Amino acid sequence: MPSRPDFSPWERHGDQQRPIRVSFVCLGNICRSPMAESVLRYLVAETGLADQIVVDSFGTGGWHVGGGADPRTDEALRRRGYDTGHRARQISAADIERATWVVGLDQQNVADLRDLAGPDADVGHIRTLRAFDPAAPPGAEVPDPYYGDETDFEHALDLIEVACAGLLSELQATLTEG
Ligand code: 4NP
Repeated sequence: MPSRPDFSPWERHGDQQRPIRVSFVCLGNICRSPMAESVLRYLVAETGLADQIVVDSFGTGGWHVGGGADPRTDEALRRRGYDTGHRARQISAADIERATWVVGLDQQNVADLRDLAGPDADVGHIRTLRAFDPAAPPGAEVPDPYYGDETDFEHALDLIEVACAGLLSELQATLTEG
């Protein structure tokens, strides 16, 4: 098992917070965070933890609220057998507070989330997704594929799958210990 990250949101929410809520956040909530939501939800269901771990996603921006995922997101997910059917949402400070983990897809997402949470908020539960990939270098991100092509969406999904496996391990360890 990969070593656990040297941070703990459980101190903030209490070890007994159930269900655990993981909120993925990117810029538009139509490409990367919907992919992460579908991947982690699949892994959670596959490991029988669907009643203990809730997964959702948001954008920091509101341009696409109420619309579906980018068609290239749905195509990439379908090619690998994941569920689709996303509706875009914009994150609020209350959504940040409610989540056990708030997981940004890149460093700008994390900076924007910290700004939105406010100067007095506890933001120790806001991390980047690739921090859960033990092989990723510090500061690693999932690049935005929006202005790219199918290859960029496939690459983003590759990175998301690896990091979500690491995140699932962390969640399983917490549930076992808790
Ligand atoms: P996402 O990609 O943050 O991965 O959903 C984007 C989607 C839309 C825009 C930018 C990035 N946009 O500028 O509309």
